[in-house]
Amino acid sequence: MISSTGYQTGFGNEFATEAIAGALPEGRNSPQRVAHGLYAEQMSGTAFTAPRHANRRSWLYRIRPAAMHGSFSEFVQPAFHSDFGAGPVTPDQLRWNPLPIPATPMDFIEGIHTMAGNGSPQAQCGVGIHVYVANRDMTDRWFCNADGEFLIVPQQGRLHVETEFGVLDVEPQEIALVPRGIRFRVSLPDGVARGYICENFGAMFKLPDLGPIGSNGLANPRDFLIPTAAFEDREGAFELVTKFQSHLWRADIGHSPLDVVAWHGNYAPCKYDLRRFNTIGSISYDHPDPSIFLVLHSPSDTPGTSNVDMAIFPPRWLVAQDTFRPPWFHRNVASEFMGLVHGTYDAKAEGFVPGGCSLHNSFTGHGPDAATFEKASAADLSKADVISDTMAFMFETRAVIRPTRQALDSVQRQVDYLSCWQGLRKHYKPAQA
Ligand SMILES: [Fe+2]
Repeated sequence: MISSTGYQTGFGNEFATEAIAGALPEGRNSPQRVAHGLYAEQMSGTAFTAPRHANRRSWLYRIRPAAMHGSFSEFVQPAFHSDFGAGPVTPDQLRWNPLPIPATPMDFIEGIHTMAGNGSPQAQCGVGIHVYVANRDMTDRWFCNADGEFLIVPQQGRLHVETEFGVLDVEPQEIALVPRGIRFRVSLPDGVARGYICENFGAMFKLPDLGPIGSNGLANPRDFLIPTAAFEDREGAFELVTKFQSHLWRADIGHSPLDVVAWHGNYAPCKYDLRRFNTIGSISYDHPDPSIFLVLHSPSDTPGTSNVDMAIFPPRWLVAQDTFRPPWFHRNVASEFMGLVHGTYDAKAEGFVPGGCSLHNSFTGHGPDAATFEKASAADLSKADVISDTMAFMFETRAVIRPTRQALDSVQRQVDYLSCWQGLRKHYKPAQA
């Protein structure tokens, strides 16, 4: 196992890091001979000619180049895919209980269960939305996703994520972002793990613009942690699993691909502690739109319209006056997949539990359940509502999120979810004649 050697800070910054002194070339990227007999290899995450502010690439100095492995053949893991179907999509509100921790041995890749998605890796837009459950380490297996970047949201159990760029140690209420194409391995310090994954097929996640909020707020760039270089020099009969054009593949590999001794550039994995989010809200009346909770944003080709956004609903104080304080009833053009990492969510009295998830698609009405509505309508607004024990999140997309067949047929699906709104009483009082 590779231990963390620490972190550098800043989202998308240029970094330079070496695990062995003198491994990084000075003044050029690809000298005739790299120090310590290393190979130089460029990894580009954006087009060569992408504008400078959006251009992302790194130079890796490694023991062997990434090209060294056997031929790929099918890797069988039918629960992890990008098949979101082509048939009708129910407009019903949908909700699921948590997937149980498996009874049989299952690593992070074996335990990925695709819940929903839209678009495709082929079209380079849309998302795959997955939950994962695992109870064993990936030992002699590495994973690489050419289809999309992996935004990993642990809900139970820490993850020790060893990547070509170094190590990310991630715990629930933190997130890890592994850009596409980067090889990594996940082990489980707590023995078991469960969480969520947004597989982004579109433009790379970036921090949102802040507009009138100003130069600080929401997720601050310096709170994103990028690993310093760490590597292993290990040989054996290993396996490289790759997701490529919606299918899973495997190849033999005779060495650990985590053999990058030094790297520099701005294409790298990172982690972020959601508890560091600077939550902004109303101090007069009403709620701002939930875009105020935006952590990461993947733009589409339509200005202001996301391919996918990740928003969170963290601890916060609700102080607005003459205001219904929980999230209001709403219908949006966007589609919303929600999960709960910790605690309770303030729009639902029961049924939405940590590890569970819900899906409210485009223009599907939803909002607080009957119990929450009655309570909030009678609340004493002279006092602040201090919401202290929660961490919910939302993957929101411009395209309808299509639940997979296995999600619709799952025993975890709450088929009576709609009943949470059926108890909303009629309060209407017609004016007296
Ligand atoms: Fe919503």
